[in-house]
Amino acid sequence: MARQQWSSKTVFVLAAVGSAVGLGNVWRFPYLAGRYGGGAFLIPYLLAFVLMATPLLILELAIGQRMQRGPIKSLRQMHPAFGGIGLIAVISAFLVVAYYAVVMAWCLIYLIRSLGVAWADDPQGYFFGQVLQISDGVGQWGGFNLPILAALVAVWLAIYFCIWQGPKSVGKVVLYTVPLPVVVMAVLFLRSLTLPGFWQGWRLYLTPVWSAMLSPEVWTAAAAQAFLTLSVAFAIMLTYASYKQPNEDIVKSSWTTAIADLAISLFAGFVVFAVLGYMAWTTSSTVEEVTTSGPGLAFVVFPQALSLMPLPGLFSALFFFMLLTLGIDSAFSLVEPAIAAWLDLKPGTKGTHIAGWACLAAFAVGTLYTTRAGLYFLDIVDHFVTTYNAIVVALGMAILGGWVFGAEALRRYVNEVSDWQVGRWWNISIKWVVPIVLAILLATQLSTDLRTPYEGYPAWALAIGWATVLVPLGLGLWMVRGGQEVLLEAAPPEQDGTPQ
Ligand code: PHE
Repeated sequence: MARQQWSSKTVFVLAAVGSAVGLGNVWRFPYLAGRYGGGAFLIPYLLAFVLMATPLLILELAIGQRMQRGPIKSLRQMHPAFGGIGLIAVISAFLVVAYYAVVMAWCLIYLIRSLGVAWADDPQGYFFGQVLQISDGVGQWGGFNLPILAALVAVWLAIYFCIWQGPKSVGKVVLYTVPLPVVVMAVLFLRSLTLPGFWQGWRLYLTPVWSAMLSPEVWTAAAAQAFLTLSVAFAIMLTYASYKQPNEDIVKSSWTTAIADLAISLFAGFVVFAVLGYMAWTTSSTVEEVTTSGPGLAFVVFPQALSLMPLPGLFSALFFFMLLTLGIDSAFSLVEPAIAAWLDLKPGTKGTHIAGWACLAAFAVGTLYTTRAGLYFLDIVDHFVTTYNAIVVALGMAILGGWVFGAEALRRYVNEVSDWQVGRWWNISIKWVVPIVLAILLATQLSTDLRTPYEGYPAWALAIGWATVLVPLGLGLWMVRGGQEVLLEAAPPEQDGTPQ
């Protein structure tokens, strides 16, 4: 059975941009910028983005495209000890998509309730009370929240029908779902320029609070955001690249993806801050007051701001429609590593069946987040998986690519096939900058989490968070210590087509 391929180079770049540009750009980036010093956050962010995240993107594309296999096999082919890193990446992406889809389910509920602007009277109470029906603490499950569960089923059906035929169906979907939200964002941008007070919002966004740069927390947050937003460190881009021809461009595609993603984050920042500036103006408060809400931004502060605009229903519907279309290509890209790894293991299986089982399994895990304590669990798992698992995978890949396989050898391959060239600075980034900075981040984050319980959650709840780190890590180690033979013996012998 021949390995599936993208129908064209443009389709691959669109899929990569679709994966990179997601809820992270509109919901996470602006609130981090607001929280960590406005313009001053942009500096660590840009540094991490250009010096670490983009080089890692080039590395992932190089590995996937060269090895023509899913994450586990690709890494294992480069060195037998590194298959475990692939396994950790696959499980982590799967854990992320289980809650990512739940956030999309909230967007769907908001979209449906947009026309009546159901939250207008009390946006905070609406989100936590009516939509989430949140319980008093992580220990009180309080049963399932049926509307969210129903919305989650709808989201998973949509995801399944995007990926059921692999790159073939994904290629068709991204032609629409990638440009569409950008058009909607442009409409919202133009609208925001006509709102009084938008300028105050922009001022806060762009004025650097230099003292913020002295805090290590800002640097960790900036680096983590740079990785998440580019979808690196979860083997997503590696998987997507494995559906390319072995001799296709890598460098130009990486920079195109990175620049598009960066531009959309910055652009989303302008829209979000303009609307917040308007809200500060109408409610006679300062923009600082309205932005300090953190993760509630997209579901509390922003909806409230929208409800104050003329034609609130229309603009709210546009906003949540934009979030959904932005999110869907990222969501299905997070399922792809698991599908690719499974197909490597059992090449004869029908792709449509694997996609179906993968979606069903992620949905099942995601039901945890549809309980009344769901938001607490989501917060915990998000914190642990996106920091520790991402750092471990990125570290593993950088060591494998930079030291074991050899950065120079990889760079030569990359430059041979690419339209643009990448200089020697890439070797330095992969061999030194990425591992050293990540090791420091890992140590700082570990010491913080071991000293102070994250967000004050009880130990048993945080144990679930640690389990999402330690279980994949344990499985990864088991694989290195021979467990992979058990897995791979079940698979039929290697087929031709691996470029050597
Ligand atoms: N890059 C996407 C985003 O910013 C999807 C993603 C989220 C990828 C989290 C990995 C981890 O939303």
